[in-house]
Amino acid sequence: MKIVPRDKSSLKGNRKVLTRQTKGDKFRVSSFKGYYSMYDKDWAKVDINKVPSIKTVVPGPKSKEYHDRASKYMKGYSNQVKLFPVAFESGKGSVLTDVDGNDYIDFSSGIYVTGLGHCHPKISEAIAHYAGQLMNCHDFTTKIKMELLEKLAEVTQGDLNGIQLYDSGTTAVEAGLRCARAATGNFEFISFWRDFHGKTMGSVSLAMVDSSQGMRAPGFYQAPRPNCYRCPFKMTHPECNCYCVDFIENVILNETSQQLAAIVLEPVQGWNGSVVPPDDYMPKLRVLCDKYGILLFADEVLTGMARTGKMFCMEHWDTIPDITTIGKGFGNGFPVTAMCVSDKFKDVIENISASSSYGGNPMACAAALASLEVIEDENLCERSEHLGNIMLKRMEKIKNNHPIVGDVRGKGCLLAIELVKDKTTKEPFEEAGKLVYRKAFEKGLAWVPSRSTLRLSPPLIMDDDMALKGLDIIDEAIGEVEKELL
Ligand SMILES: Cc1ncc(COP(=O)(O)O)c(C=O)c1O
Repeated sequence: MKIVPRDKSSLKGNRKVLTRQTKGDKFRVSSFKGYYSMYDKDWAKVDINKVPSIKTVVPGPKSKEYHDRASKYMKGYSNQVKLFPVAFESGKGSVLTDVDGNDYIDFSSGIYVTGLGHCHPKISEAIAHYAGQLMNCHDFTTKIKMELLEKLAEVTQGDLNGIQLYDSGTTAVEAGLRCARAATGNFEFISFWRDFHGKTMGSVSLAMVDSSQGMRAPGFYQAPRPNCYRCPFKMTHPECNCYCVDFIENVILNETSQQLAAIVLEPVQGWNGSVVPPDDYMPKLRVLCDKYGILLFADEVLTGMARTGKMFCMEHWDTIPDITTIGKGFGNGFPVTAMCVSDKFKDVIENISASSSYGGNPMACAAALASLEVIEDENLCERSEHLGNIMLKRMEKIKNNHPIVGDVRGKGCLLAIELVKDKTTKEPFEEAGKLVYRKAFEKGLAWVPSRSTLRLSPPLIMDDDMALKGLDIIDEAIGEVEKELL
């Protein structure tokens, strides 16, 4: 990366103009103190004929050794790892390399995190700069924090200008819950079947509980999630007129003590396989919240930062929540998250301490500001939408050609394929899910399983031909599994 002295003459005007400027085929990297660098627009380009490249049996010998040694101590790996225990060495753009030198197309972005590609030069430089200048100063103001807050307030929907910075999605969600309680004086919450919000106690109580967690905390209730492929009411959209929203009124009136602070949901369900609500769902939910004076809390930890083709997913439905949480792609891999609340409740959060050990540290702020700038500079909302469209088109073909593919769906680069034993009964095909996941991984596709559903979240910067090559691998893997299982 070429470091060039800062051109002071370009500093007049505001920072937005500065950072959006490009020069030839280079992007200006940053406005950080005293210097900026240029990076090549094609920094992540690879010869598509050379990727994936699998040179050993995978997971290879070094992967096996490292994983065996690590797993003596590390317990509770995700199914993503348990089903394919590879050890990774490096990542660049849309390509991951394991410790045995095998290269994979990345359809996982870590876990919906590295949307701008692994080791994006601007993000890496921003973090490295603050790693050398100031790593932590509690919640004191820094210049980079001030710049991030101003930028975030500019890009969030409506008046979501009351901001607190945290270091994980779940701690931002917890802050949102505290904020909803303080703002309304109420204490109950409604969340949705199979949504996921994190692993601290409040977040766990918003999600499905299993035998390892026991009961959810008092005051937390659940309602059926809009899922038109598997409608819990056996209705069809649009004739149903989003009856699932009407049903929430039953939950409010019959289950809760009507002291509701917020309705909390993922705009598009992530963990359960990119389940997209119908377009009239969110506006109708907003009306219901307003009718009862309940806050609408959109957890955009997974769906934000252009993942679905808009900076924030709720923009698809012109619906502005009262509280939103941001994470994962916010720092493109660096742990930085945020809870944003409407100006209406700004004074309330003044009383909720945002102080935490790591929240808003200078490296985190630099990573987040750089990520927001890259999304704008590289037009990644449009790119995410475009990539999602061409991928969904190809996925429709896969669905039509395979008896075990029940549904393909998603928005932007948040996509999924659901496998079934029978397209009419829609019985989930978990065994096929595991096998297709493994086979495609063996062929060089790093991605994310979820029982009978396979999740696709490529970096937003992935080239079209690489995305389509990844789908060819999936197509082939499904065909092989059908031969084995049908
Ligand atoms: C919608 C949503 N909210 C919150 C979280 C929790 O984020 P973290 O793992 O950073 O705590 C996740 C993580 O997957 C998520 O998908």
